[in-house]
Amino acid sequence: MKFFLDTADVGEIREGMAMGMVDGVTTNPSLVAKTGKPYAKVIEEICSIVSGPVSAETNSEDAEGMMAEARELAAISPQVNVKIPMTMEGLKAVAAASKANIRTNVTLIFQPLQGLMAAKAGASYVSPFVGRLDDIAHDGMDMVADLKQILRNYNYATEVIVASIRGPLHIQQAALVGVDIATIPFKVLANLAKHPLTNSGIEQFLADHKKIPKG
Ligand code: E4P
Repeated sequence: MKFFLDTADVGEIREGMAMGMVDGVTTNPSLVAKTGKPYAKVIEEICSIVSGPVSAETNSEDAEGMMAEARELAAISPQVNVKIPMTMEGLKAVAAASKANIRTNVTLIFQPLQGLMAAKAGASYVSPFVGRLDDIAHDGMDMVADLKQILRNYNYATEVIVASIRGPLHIQQAALVGVDIATIPFKVLANLAKHPLTNSGIEQFLADHKKIPKG
């Protein structure tokens, strides 16, 4: 299972990389806005430190505008895949980008058939949002499992990125479903590594180590 970091914060990316946990990065306008830096600059900086794929999102609402942005973003680095929202205009842009050999990540997927359409249009990645569905009392992971099964049934090369992750259990469930990638906020990544029994175990061993006579 690949772990992407869901952040535009280079400090978090460096920290995750030091632990060997960063196979790629996803950003969105909300995450980039938090950095206070221009979009292209942030993407450029991220690409200079990670070696895997980096998602950068378009902001136009029409296919032509999305495609123009896609060309600009893809020119930043071959690592960039262009994040395009799941709309009819978005599908047109994905189909055009695919013909132009620009990799895409179709975002804001809340229904398995939206994911199938994105794969059919030629998306490299599809991003189903689990947390936002859970927030409105729908089972986000059920939707992800159905989407993954549909893509498997027809041997699509499109990879599923579980997005809008809220906690460690989402990652465990996604791993059991067999999704390709989880894009994880840094706070959740940190929580994944922790267990209270690990902490109390360390304390006990450190205390006992002090009792060992020096030879
Ligand atoms: C990543 O691709 C998504 O933009 C992100 O996971 C959305 O997360 P949120 O629902 O916590 O904003």
